[in-house]
Formats: sequence, structure tokens, C-alpha cells
Amino acid sequence: NGQSTLRPLTSDVAVIAHRGASAYGPEHTLAAYKQAITMKADYVEFDLQMTKDGQLIAMHDETLARTTNAKELYPDRAPWRVKDFTLDEIKRLDAGSWFNKAYPNQAKTAYIGEKVPTLEEAINFVKQHGNGKAGLYMETKAPNVYPGMEEKVIEILKKTNVLNDEKLFLESFSEESLRKLHNLAPNVKLIQLYTGKMMAGKDVYQEMKRITDYASGVGPSKELVLPKLMQAAHQNKLLVHPWTVNSRDDMVSLTSLGVDGQFTNYPDQFENLLDKP
Ligand code: G3P
Ligand code: CA
Repeated sequence: NGQSTLRPLTSDVAVIAHRGASAYGPEHTLAAYKQAITMKADYVEFDLQMTKDGQLIAMHDETLARTTNAKELYPDRAPWRVKDFTLDEIKRLDAGSWFNKAYPNQAKTAYIGEKVPTLEEAINFVKQHGNGKAGLYMETKAPNVYPGMEEKVIEILKKTNVLNDEKLFLESFSEESLRKLHNLAPNVKLIQLYTGKMMAGKDVYQEMKRITDYASGVGPSKELVLPKLMQAAHQNKLLVHPWTVNSRDDMVSLTSLGVDGQFTNYPDQFENLLDKP
């Protein structure tokens, strides 16, 4: 039945709470980060965008439309791009009610009125509530839209005193953004993200070797994780953190292939599979 070929599910696979415990609470709110910590995730993941006045916030999309009530509060400001709003304007938004409507089975009244966190607030919250266990994992999203984003990320990491943390990763689909981060902070661990399209036509061995001058690991779409990629990455001492792994079967098979961590919206389910102390 294939079970005999499975590697034991050991505790050395990092559980990365994707946008917080985003299956259970509104993504990129302190409520979702709190749940990730309660579920004993090893890392909380933040996607980053930048406001009109140059503030970094935790948000996945380039627009406010999907995960806030921006359309109702600011009806004349389509398409509600983050870069066209000040932090003050964004702080007036409700970032929780959309979740209650979209996922009634997980809805909680406490989510109503959740705010969009700044990067600084998100870091401080995880450090304060994480009991030294929860790590930080953050993505420069759309860095081409936000000149100077990398400098601001490093500035905030210094200000919050986490730049030298062992449990810190920065990630991006943009090699250019990662190279800027590497130049600004050469000791910070960087993860090169890959979509299937980005890897198409590439020799995986050559690609893994090529990125070792700036990357500590790769974050491939889960479909890309084949034995050949695992071997190429590990031969080059690169970690492998696939995304986004939400089914039990995928959690088990990817762990068996030897990945070093997995992004998941269900950190509790992954924790339950692993033999953690
Ligand atoms: O960062 C890994 C994974 O989160 C990439 O996908 O779109 O959820 O940021 P996305
Ligand atoms: Ca991400």
C-alpha cells in the first residue's frame, strides 16, 4: 500500500501558518496569527504590501477589495489599490467581516472589525504571544510596484529587534527583490518561491545551483516537489518549503519526500500528523 516507503513523520518539518491560521480566521489579522500561535505553528507567514505613505502592511492582495470592506467605505476609489491609500485610511477598514460571510462555518463575532496590521504590529504581536517559539516568515509581494520596499523591510526588522533571529525567513517570487534583501542583510535566510511556470523549461539541478549565492531555500508550488527537485535542492544545501499544503494526503506525501517545511492554512492538522514533543 506504499506505507512502508514512507519516511517517519518526524518533528523536523517546519509548520508554516500561511497568512496565519487562515482556514480558521480572516487571513492577515492578529486573530488569525493568534490562532496559528495557539496551534503551535513554527512560523507565522505574512505577505507584505506598501501604503501610499510608505507603510508596510500585512496583506496578500495588491488591492483592498477582497479582504476588507473598502468597496463599501470608499465606493468611489476603485480598484482600491493598497498603494493609493494611506495607512490612516486603511486602519478605518474592517478586515474580518468578509471572512464571516465567506466561511459561515468558521465565523466568529470577534472577527468583526479586525484591523489590517502593519508589519511592525504583526511582528510585535507574534513575538509577544509566541513565547519565543513562533518564528517570522515574510514575503515581499509585488516588489516592482513598491520601490524601496526591501529597505523598509530591513528597517522594521532592525527596529523590532528581530533581524538576527534564528527563526526568521524572508521569501519572494522576485529574484531581484531577494538579491536586494541579500545585499542589505547578508545573514538573513532567503527563500526563492517558484510557480510551475517559473520552473518550466529549466534544468532543476542548474537552477538550484544558480541560486545558492543568495538563497537558503526554495518555496515551490507543491506540484513541483518531485524526487529530482528534492535531490537537487538538498545537494545544494537548500531547504524545501512547498505551498500551500492543505490536505492530509499532501502533508503526508510531501513529508515523506523529505521537505523541510510546509505552508498550510491548517497548522493544527499538520502539527497533529507530526511526532512533535
Ligand atoms: O509564500 C508562499 C505562498 O504563500 C505563495 O503563495 O499567493 O499565498 O502568497 P501566496
Ligand atoms: Ca505568501
